[in-house]
Amino acid sequence: MTKLFLPNTEATQQLGINLGETLAAGTVILLEGDLGAGKTTLVQGIGKGLGITDSIVSPTFTLINEYTEGRIPLYHLDLYRLEPQEVTGLNLESYWEGIEVELGIVAIEWAERMPYLPESYVKIALTDGENGTRQVEIIPFNCQLNFLHKL
Ligand SMILES: Nc1ncnc2c1ncn2[C@@H]1O[C@H](COP(=O)(O)OP(=O)(O)O)[C@@H](O)[C@H]1O
Ligand SMILES: [Mg+2]
Repeated sequence: MTKLFLPNTEATQQLGINLGETLAAGTVILLEGDLGAGKTTLVQGIGKGLGITDSIVSPTFTLINEYTEGRIPLYHLDLYRLEPQEVTGLNLESYWEGIEVELGIVAIEWAERMPYLPESYVKIALTDGENGTRQVEIIPFNCQLNFLHKL
């Protein structure tokens, strides 16, 4: 597990950029943290790191936004409005198994709502720090994150 201090919005974005530049296709990122914790901010950084110039907006209402102009595709999901049993019907595994979609990075906000998990994933949990700052915990499950040793 890696714990980092994120003093401001730029630090959250920069972490996302590092992820977007280095993550392999098929990586699933499960984002946890309250409303306003910085989950979408992090995904915006990932998009930047992938070379996506479209603006990345919260998929709270669209459920899933797909961006295909970068190094590899970015699939950005937000399960906030769903119950776990509703998530089951979405066949989310097709995104990380690459079934009928090109393999890319799958970033899922409110991953707590997932009734089942992929075999490998990175859990990223954002919490409030002092004076409006954030802290982040990065926990890879069955996968490696090559950029972490450089931080
Ligand atoms: N490390 C940080 N320190 C202070 N503010 C941050 C930090 N990271 C993000 N923010 C700010 O907090 C808010 C987070 O919003 P957002 O990313 O939409 O959260 P979420 O998707 O988790 O609901 C934004 O206004 C962003 O600028
Ligand atoms: Mg969000």
